[in-house]
Order: sequence, then structure tokens, then C-alpha cells
Amino acid sequence: SVYVASTTAPVNIATLKYWGKRDKNLNLPTNSSISVTLAQQDLRTLTSVATSESFPEDKLWLNGKEESLQSERTQHCLQDLRDLRKQLEAADPSLPRFSQWKLRIVSENNFPTAAGLASSAAGFAALVVAIAKLYQLPQSYSDISKIARKGSGSACRSLFGGYVAWEMGSNPDGSDSKAVEIAPMEHWPQMKAAVLVACADKKDTPSTSGMQQTVATSDLFQERINVVVPKRFEEMKQAILNKDFALFAELTMKDSNSFHATCLDSFPPIFYMNDTSRKIVKLCHFINAFYGETIVAYTYDAGPNAVLYYLQENEEKLFAFIYKVFQNNQGWDSKFSAKELAKFS
Ligand code: DP6
Repeated sequence: SVYVASTTAPVNIATLKYWGKRDKNLNLPTNSSISVTLAQQDLRTLTSVATSESFPEDKLWLNGKEESLQSERTQHCLQDLRDLRKQLEAADPSLPRFSQWKLRIVSENNFPTAAGLASSAAGFAALVVAIAKLYQLPQSYSDISKIARKGSGSACRSLFGGYVAWEMGSNPDGSDSKAVEIAPMEHWPQMKAAVLVACADKKDTPSTSGMQQTVATSDLFQERINVVVPKRFEEMKQAILNKDFALFAELTMKDSNSFHATCLDSFPPIFYMNDTSRKIVKLCHFINAFYGETIVAYTYDAGPNAVLYYLQENEEKLFAFIYKVFQNNQGWDSKFSAKELAKFS
């Protein structure tokens, strides 16, 4: 017979960035990070897995196309899951020997690759959770997140919805480097995100090698991981728990800027943001100043596309502005008087 299980995992966007590894093999980070997953069903990976004694080999189909499972990262995840299943089977000989059987995995994203969103986080999270379900593993989501982390660091945060922290941990074996929930999405359901696609091309420097380059060459980076981020991590958690949007937004924007500053401080420098990205940064600051209150935050990952955070109640206010500025591809400064601009630029 064939046994099956499926699950979905959401895309997560870091508001406090993971950038730098202390262990490349285990994806152990040099700092803790925080992410927000929004609209669980809008941007997600759906993964189904099947196992049977009769399957001759492990197989994977990604968005309808057969893909290799041979990457070291994927093998690492599969091995960990099979080891946990083996422990169950040793304790209960009546269980079918799933740990010995091969897997068929079918995985689909419901968002276009052109959205420029990293899909590996949701992908590894869904893969690991689907197999954990199939194997009926008793471990908690935080424990399972340590396996997803080995697939891709940021994947551990996609095990939860809502507001999530990845605690960096200190053990060399990674046993305390895991995701924990700060608050579920329902805690602050007014929070919304929008992706502004500045360029849908493939990214410049892959994050894995970019991180290594920053760790090895940036002087700013030491200040970031030792001083700036530890404080910001606590402040951002509190801002989320207190539903303090102005503070959450300020910390989010500052952390994006800090991360991109360490990229620029790497040698040779790494550039992820482009002219359009920078224009959006300026525009967000302009909008907040214009309304005299913080209604929007931007953040950028290892690419030029902006993710904006805002509260539902400000959606019209925000998009009226963005639409006006970007329609006909005109510069936004021309829309305002010299006096207004002098105040904000
Ligand atoms: C800028 O998780 O993709 O998006 O662990 O090497 O797979 P690996 O890196 P990855 O890096 C994500 C970097 C980031 C920030 C973040 O998501 O926290």
C-alpha cells in the first residue's frame, strides 16, 4: 500500500535579517532573526509526500517538473527525518518500516517565480513538515524547524504562521538554533504586506555566498551582530507584542538598511538594491513624513524587490500615494512643491 500526507508552508519575510553563518554545514546563524508570514494561503508552498515499499527511488516534482533530490541540503533533511522515524520503529515493531522506504514528493508554489520571492524557505519547510506528518513524528514544530533549518536557514521560520523568531542558539551542534512563535497571526491581524517588484530577474549574489563574503570581509558586520541586532531583537519582539506599529516599522526599516550596509561594506561589495528600490525607500519616508505618522515600513532581502508592511486601516492612504507616484513611470518628486520636498528630502 501507499501512505500519503500533505501540508502547506507560508513564505516568510524577515523584518530582522538573518545574514551570516557560524556553521555553514548546519546553517547556524551569527544572529537571531524575526519574520512575519502573512496571508498564509496567498503565498505558500503545498507539498504532498507518499511512501511505499514498492517505490524504487526517491523522486521529487517541483511545480510539475522533475527535480533532483541529490543536493547535500535536501539529503541532510531526509536523513534526519528517517533517523527520527527509525527511533519510532525501534520502539514499536508493529509500525511499517517507512524509514527504509523511498519517497515521492510533489511540491507546488501558488505564487509566480516572477514575484522575485525566495521560495526555498517555504519549500524546505513544507517538505520537512509533510514528511514529519507522514512519519507521525512526535516532535514539536520548534524541534522539526531545526531540520528545515539545515535545508535553508530562513526555512525554519516558515514552520509557523504569524510572527516568528529564529533563536540563534549557542550549541555547536545546532540543538538550540530553532524557530519559536512570538505571536500567531490573529494577534495582530491588521498587519498587511505588499510586494513591489522592482526587477524580476534572478538575484545577483546568492545569499549563501553573499553571507560568507560579508562575514569574512565586513568590519561593520561585527558591530551589527554583537551590538545592534541583540538589542533590536528584543525591541522588535516587544513592538510586536505591544502592537506598536511605529516602533515595529522603524526597527524593520533600520534593520533592512543595516543589512544592506554590511553588504556594501563587504569586499568586493554586494549590491542587492537598485535605483527603483532606493526610490521606494525615499517614497516610504516621504509618505510617513507627509502624514505625520508612520504608516508604512519597507524591507529588502537579497534582491531589489520591496516588501512593504502597513496596517489595513492605512491601505488606501498608502496606495493612493504609491499609485500616483508610479503611474506613467514618472518621477515622484515632480508631484510635490519645492517647499514640501525641502522638508523631506
Ligand atoms: C536576506 O535562508 O536563503 O533573506 O541558509 O544559505 O539557505 P541559506 O540562506 P537563506 O538566507 C536568507 C537571507 C535573507 C534574510 C532572511 O530571510 O532572514
